[in-house]
Amino acid sequence: MPSTSTHSTKAAGAAKKTSSGKDKGLADLFLHGIKDIYYAEKKLTKALPKMIKAAKSQDLIDALTSHLKETEGHVTKVEQVFALLDMAPKAVKCDAIDGIVAEAEEILKDFGKTSAADAAIIFSGQAAEHYEITRYGSLRTFAEVLGYDKASNILQSILDQEKAADKKLSEIAEDRVDYAAAGSDSYEDGNVLSDGEPRKEKGAINWRLWQ
Ligand SMILES: [Fe+2]
Repeated sequence: MPSTSTHSTKAAGAAKKTSSGKDKGLADLFLHGIKDIYYAEKKLTKALPKMIKAAKSQDLIDALTSHLKETEGHVTKVEQVFALLDMAPKAVKCDAIDGIVAEAEEILKDFGKTSAADAAIIFSGQAAEHYEITRYGSLRTFAEVLGYDKASNILQSILDQEKAADKKLSEIAEDRVDYAAAGSDSYEDGNVLSDGEPRKEKGAINWRLWQ
């Protein structure tokens, strides 16, 4: 694992230039974004266990449990980015993730005990993943432009895991969740609805459309 203590003086020096003066630049925006995503990751480490508890299918429980471990790792990785900038980790309130998590909790209240529970959890989980993907994509690019090469590599590694987690949720949805959402009796049955019709032809939710 690369040491965080050998980061280029270019990055640390640039970061220290950010805090004074009225004219804020890309380095300031990068730092704001890192604080924002740090807040989001910590928030998600608290939100994911509630989703795991409510999930019904084992593959969804496994995927969320695996991503909770990754998310705890993301907190550590973002702390490494702060270290590369010679800064102590600091979170700044992120209204976007607060909204996504608040909405997820509301949806869980409404659907957590219904046959659409797993669909509802994936619905909310992918909202969080897509938020993270867009932020890590931007932050990775900002880091590249600013010459923060080690930070860029760390952010890319998180981005890769977020994309994989999102893809996994889509696969689970495509395999199973559409039965529950459609109210089918054949939740465990494979590829047909209870009356034997192919599911896609019955107009069950096609989660592929969300990709
Ligand atoms: Fe994350």
